[in-house]
Amino acid sequence: MDSYLNTVKDVYKQAAVKPEKGLCCTTTPIWQLPELSIPDKMLEMNYGCGSTVNPRDLVNEPKILYVGVGGGMELLQFSYFSRKRGAVIGIDPVDEMLIVCAENLIDAQKENKWFNPEFVQLKSGDALHLPVENESIDVAAQNCLFNIFHENELEIALREIYRVLKPNGRLSLSDPISEYPMPENLKNDERLRALCLSGAIPLQDYIDRITAIGFGTIEVRAKRPYRILDTVHFSTDENILVESVEICAIKDPMPEDGPCIFTGKTAIYFGKEDSFNDNKGHLLIKNQPLAVCDKTAAALANLKRNDIYISGSTYFYDGGGCC
Ligand SMILES: C[S@@+](CC[C@H](N)C(=O)[O-])C[C@H]1O[C@@H](n2cnc3c(N)ncnc32)[C@H](O)[C@@H]1O
Repeated sequence: MDSYLNTVKDVYKQAAVKPEKGLCCTTTPIWQLPELSIPDKMLEMNYGCGSTVNPRDLVNEPKILYVGVGGGMELLQFSYFSRKRGAVIGIDPVDEMLIVCAENLIDAQKENKWFNPEFVQLKSGDALHLPVENESIDVAAQNCLFNIFHENELEIALREIYRVLKPNGRLSLSDPISEYPMPENLKNDERLRALCLSGAIPLQDYIDRITAIGFGTIEVRAKRPYRILDTVHFSTDENILVESVEICAIKDPMPEDGPCIFTGKTAIYFGKEDSFNDNKGHLLIKNQPLAVCDKTAAALANLKRNDIYISGSTYFYDGGGCC
């Protein structure tokens, strides 16, 4: 096994034994839902960099896989939507993390009448060899783990998720990205990588790696500033902005003309007719905003019409529209 993967396990063994507030953490608000109460220790051990829980993905009590459990906060949040024995599988290779997570889930039962720790099935396992059957999962999630992996392992981890997802199943992830070139010395610093600081790659590269596995639809649901790797505290010649993203990758069939990638673009037709039909499945009703994927936005822009407005990417896509 690559030595950096052992460093990762050592870092998270320590983070399990002694909670490290602020190890990851962002401005992403913590879910407030009726009768959901997050124990303090879970909040202290929120080692994610966004949220992977989205009620829109969680209708009909889906079977959920969560890779890299941390303190269990998102396991509890996912259980809120799938209240069945074993409905949420949590995988982690760090025994100490699994033990603390199990304790936190028992504590959570004291504050959450609806919750039974048996809703969550904790398993020792690795993102690179998921102990999960093919096509058995509706929603798989990972928060602030895959960024740690180098290219090879990232590909293996994504393939593993794709293997276990049912057709049309979803991968919901949150990870740091960076549009700045990461200096090699930081990239190869095992500890900084393990701390989710220097493995960040540009958003488009990340999306390309996901779609290369076969995911046909991508939604970029959030993008926020995350950390600055500055010239005083890190060995870098320029300040590096790291952002955190939330992405949902859907195991839809790959369209012939490539993946549908929604980054929050909107098209509005404001011409003389009641509507504009591009004859490719998109009907733009006059002065009604339509969320469009990047492929459709580019095709509409190519028409060079002066009666269609196309917005930039907000990187906060929240559903709707067509591809
Ligand atoms: C940055 S923490 C994120 C924890 C949690 N997802 C959260 O949002 O709070 C990374 C987690 O991944 C686990 N982990 C480390 N290496 C892993 C691997 N190869 N496969 C699966 N999980 C791993 C760590 O033990 C830790 O629980």
